[in-house]
Amino acid sequence: MSVLHLRRARTSLVLDARGPGLPRLVHWGGDVGDLDDDGLRQLADATVPPVVPSSFDAPTVLSLLPEASAGWSGRPALAGHRDRADWSTAFRLDRLDVDDPSDVAAPARVDVHAGDPDAGLSLTVELTLDPTGLVLLRHRLRNDGASPYELRELTPVLPVPAVATELLDLTGRWCRERSPQRHPWPVGTWVREGRHGRTGHDATLLLVAGTAGFGFGSGELWAVHTAWSGDHVTFAERRPTGTATLGGGELLTPGEVVLGPGESYATPLLYAAWSDTGLDGLSDVLHTHLRARPRHPRTPRPVTLNVWEAVYFDHDLDRLRALADQAAEVGVERFVLDDGWFRGRRADTAGLGDWYVDEGVWPDGLHPLIEHVTKLGLQFGLWVEPEMVNPDSDLFRDHPEWVLATPGRLPLSWRNQQVLDLAQPGAYAYLLERLDALLTEHPGISYLKWDHNRDLAEAGHHGRPGVHAQTEAVYRLLDELRRRHRSVEIESCASGGARVDLEILARTDRVWASDCNDALERLAIQRWTGLLLPPELVGSHIGPERSHTTNRVHDLGFRAAVAFFGHYGIEWDIASISPVQRAELASWVALHKRLRPLLHTGRTVRVEHPDPAVWAHGVVAPDGSRAVYAVSRLTTSVAQVPGALRLPGLDRRRRYTVRPAEGVPAPATMQRTEPGWLPTGVTLTGAALGSVGLQLPALHPEQALLLEASAVD
Ligand code: DGJ
Repeated sequence: MSVLHLRRARTSLVLDARGPGLPRLVHWGGDVGDLDDDGLRQLADATVPPVVPSSFDAPTVLSLLPEASAGWSGRPALAGHRDRADWSTAFRLDRLDVDDPSDVAAPARVDVHAGDPDAGLSLTVELTLDPTGLVLLRHRLRNDGASPYELRELTPVLPVPAVATELLDLTGRWCRERSPQRHPWPVGTWVREGRHGRTGHDATLLLVAGTAGFGFGSGELWAVHTAWSGDHVTFAERRPTGTATLGGGELLTPGEVVLGPGESYATPLLYAAWSDTGLDGLSDVLHTHLRARPRHPRTPRPVTLNVWEAVYFDHDLDRLRALADQAAEVGVERFVLDDGWFRGRRADTAGLGDWYVDEGVWPDGLHPLIEHVTKLGLQFGLWVEPEMVNPDSDLFRDHPEWVLATPGRLPLSWRNQQVLDLAQPGAYAYLLERLDALLTEHPGISYLKWDHNRDLAEAGHHGRPGVHAQTEAVYRLLDELRRRHRSVEIESCASGGARVDLEILARTDRVWASDCNDALERLAIQRWTGLLLPPELVGSHIGPERSHTTNRVHDLGFRAAVAFFGHYGIEWDIASISPVQRAELASWVALHKRLRPLLHTGRTVRVEHPDPAVWAHGVVAPDGSRAVYAVSRLTTSVAQVPGALRLPGLDRRRRYTVRPAEGVPAPATMQRTEPGWLPTGVTLTGAALGSVGLQLPALHPEQALLLEASAVD
């Protein structure tokens, strides 16, 4: 056993695996250079803290699974017992499986096998360093004893150095997902728990620890994401002993996981990213990793029209056909029929669970609409909410026992619905059969919008806590459907963006970021969702002129420019708008189609403009040959002229021509003359554009300007 050094993409992991206890992560962060065995041993020894007064008599170090037996008095990484015994462990290292190919385009992986025969437990730690520098960590615990072992918590943690003194994470609610919150990181534990039975509108998404004053383009950062769609926790803990950790795992309810002899439990994956170039650097690692996944969507993301805010429950074949005609005319490529098509679903009070086409509303089934849409050359998508049931449904009347509940009472109602217990074989088989039949009977359906519109509460499975089993069953259902219908894409939606995590995204193709289509709100929602996800995975639609959720009114140009940096779509009754507006909409769709190869493969950058009224972001091509930026004015500014906009991410040595994106109307401004470089553009080096920047036109509030930069040499 030795000290291991894994290196990928400027990131190093140094692991002291000399035993006899669990290995210690000596370093997670910037590359430490070429170190031979002796150098690695010296590094490991040099990072052991001294023994100080009033402490244990030997140095205490943080292992991959901190244990009280090794002096850990922080938040337990493992909590459990066997009939009140075996509640403390002292794992001994048994074996290391190291797979560290010299090809740095392949991941490096270490599996640590350890056991505590006295406690009757064995542990495997799976530690992967991805070619992008992303760390993936998972623990597996097996009960080797002869009696049941109740697991209360098993949570991977990673050490963070003392220089990380500030924390940033996200919270949210319906229609305002991903609000950032930031504060110093004092001694104590910053714990973000979600007990929604789904990922949650308020999910952390990314918990970031960084050096003082870090920003989008600067600072050294460490960040974790807990990839789990059920109850989960993500936390940052600084101890008075001087250690600081980031961690995340599943939240288990008492009695939820009891391991029988020989049974195992695996934690959710903890994704961990390091960057010395600020938040944009973190996103770069995460986006590059996601884009390298075999099933990452690589075909051009079809411009989508979703009918929800256009017609709600008012399903009428002729009206929907007319909407599809208009959609085709403006360049839409996918038409999604939302909630309201199935039996009894005339409002949100009834029908969930009865996944048969409503014979009253659709006397000839969905075929006439699907045929019409696909003949227009558009893909057809359908909304479903498989895990839910309305008490007013045939399914509930036939199978009230299929609902997640505690004996004797139903959970509090939410949007008039309850949750089906997918861990019950009957409920699971019913849903699989219905969804499979729908897709088989309608081969024209190539997309499902998979919704989930309530929190789970008192989610009991045969009287026992059921969220863990439910989460696994949902994953199984999605996996099986995808196996049977490989070409069908799936969107993860949950009352907007309440199911956005990397485990649901392992089996879906995009997320619905929010039910709020107000462009001003969306600017922030998309900026912060983009911390984790690249634009092509984030559905962003042009909503109606007056937002249905905020009542604000925005020009089409602002709505179109904000939605532009995502998986583009429209959610608006475009059959009722003027031909002039439709023509403008078509010009935005055409521009998006021209730029989406860049938007959906490039590096996301955000600007911290000194004027809080000015927001800007962009996407730069991986080879630095071009970029597209959006600059938005949120409100009026204190200063008459807010100051030049520096364009980040360009190659400092190359020269670029920067000009307003062509083909769409200019945003509204109030100025006597515009800056000299507009409207024809300017050619400057990336260095000048990044360090000096460009004066902006005097945009009115709630207006946005798109700029294109193209390298000329
Ligand atoms: C919530 C979703 O977020 C909306 O987009 C829409 O699909 C409704 N559910 C339908 O009930």
